[in-house]
Amino acid sequence: MIHSALMNVMVKAARRAGRSLKRDLGEIENLQVSMKGPANFVSAADKRAEEMLYADLSKARPGYGFVGEEGGVREGTDKTHTWIVDPLDGTTNFLHGIPQFAISIGLKRDDAVIAGVIYNPANDELYIAERGKGAFLNDHRLRVAGRKQLNESVIACGLPHLGRGDLVLAHKELGTVMPRVAGLRRFGSAALDLAAVAAGRFDGYWERDLQPWDIAAGILMVREAGGTVSGMLGNDDPLATGDVICGNEMIHRELVKLLKIVN
Ligand code: IPD
Ligand code: CA
Ligand code: CA
Repeated sequence: MIHSALMNVMVKAARRAGRSLKRDLGEIENLQVSMKGPANFVSAADKRAEEMLYADLSKARPGYGFVGEEGGVREGTDKTHTWIVDPLDGTTNFLHGIPQFAISIGLKRDDAVIAGVIYNPANDELYIAERGKGAFLNDHRLRVAGRKQLNESVIACGLPHLGRGDLVLAHKELGTVMPRVAGLRRFGSAALDLAAVAAGRFDGYWERDLQPWDIAAGILMVREAGGTVSGMLGNDDPLATGDVICGNEMIHRELVKLLKIVN
């Protein structure tokens, strides 16, 4: 498949940082048994991947701004373009040697995300999307699932954990959604959850309190695969609120309705 020049840049950067993460994943198993544990090692792997991404992306597109989870905001001279990057989404999985993590790169032009790449180096799944040009997984065109009913749907979500999130609200939401769906999943990488909705693997997904680098690329991926994405209100901007609900038009509508009842 022939990619645009921009997509070539993004894919090349994601693959190089991905090779680094994959090498580091191989070390995790040895480190699990060491006294210190792998947490420091993972944080170093994370930062190293971000620096690689920054180096490659800023070399190819000098002047673009860069917002990364690890390094924060690096202003560019070109105020219209900003990379939004999570060098390792699914850190907890990575730390535990679970091969469900990804590099997520979004490119914003003014207020719109115009390109996204999500790459899982562990299984070499590469998701790409450009605005108006569709979404692809390893060069196969993606389309969200067509199921119309929640009772036949597999829905992914995010859950609070130690030190993060609203437990009471999450329990209420789970109690409302669980009995109405064919299955609920919590995979631990927001970027890959969105990518899986784009690929029609999950019928829908919701999560609260996310950051732009978790979702910038994934939101575009779902939309370019024909899906609907919003915040909790159903028509608000998930990048602005940090809350995401998505699926095909029907499943999105049903999830919005259900989750509204909870609040
Ligand atoms: C996390 C993952 C996870 C989501 C968390 C995020 P990180 O990102 O996307 O699925 O539930 O809220 O912070 O910390 O692994 O980059
Ligand atoms: Ca993340
Ligand atoms: Ca991260």
